[in-house]
Amino acid sequence: MAWKTVDRVSQPASDSPGLSEPLKDKIRGFFDRYPTKRAALIPALHMIQDDHGYIGWRAMDEVAELLEITASDVFDTVSFYSHFWTHPRGKKVVMVCRSISCDLLGADDVLSECKRVMGIDEHETSADGSYSLMTEECLATCDHGPCMVVNEKLHKCVSPSQVEKILNDADNDVLDVPRSDLYDGAERNQG
Ligand code: FES
Repeated sequence: MAWKTVDRVSQPASDSPGLSEPLKDKIRGFFDRYPTKRAALIPALHMIQDDHGYIGWRAMDEVAELLEITASDVFDTVSFYSHFWTHPRGKKVVMVCRSISCDLLGADDVLSECKRVMGIDEHETSADGSYSLMTEECLATCDHGPCMVVNEKLHKCVSPSQVEKILNDADNDVLDVPRSDLYDGAERNQG
């Protein structure tokens, strides 16, 4: 991955949300699980992105302070993983697999068609805020490539000619069993 140069002057930290006290407490709740506070960085970043939709500069500064590391340590990690976003994402995130099986089956053409239909490049968000686009390593459905995910909904054996129809389908991200139900079910069942 190429190193990014960040212009912190034209992107002031104050323009993005900071960490609320409940979110800080949630992150602090992970400290006991690791030998150092630094080790809680990845779960902390997931929690911030879940809460804010992305990880802005102010959040990076504040989580650095919380974990007693430098802001550049945080940015190194955020910029290493394509999963983390430093700017707001669209309502739906489209992820096209870029690994070998899907590549051999034509994922590049699917990605090009996604770019054409949405009018954006990778890691960009459409002007109306409806879609963001990214590529990701293997989505674990190699025998059904090329595949892509809309939010958490997997679309298998996608051909370029199907892309526009998929993207125009309002239900293209609807799951049979929402992930939140899978994770929260045990807690709810205890109640
Ligand atoms: S290579 Fe695309 S899902 Fe595995």
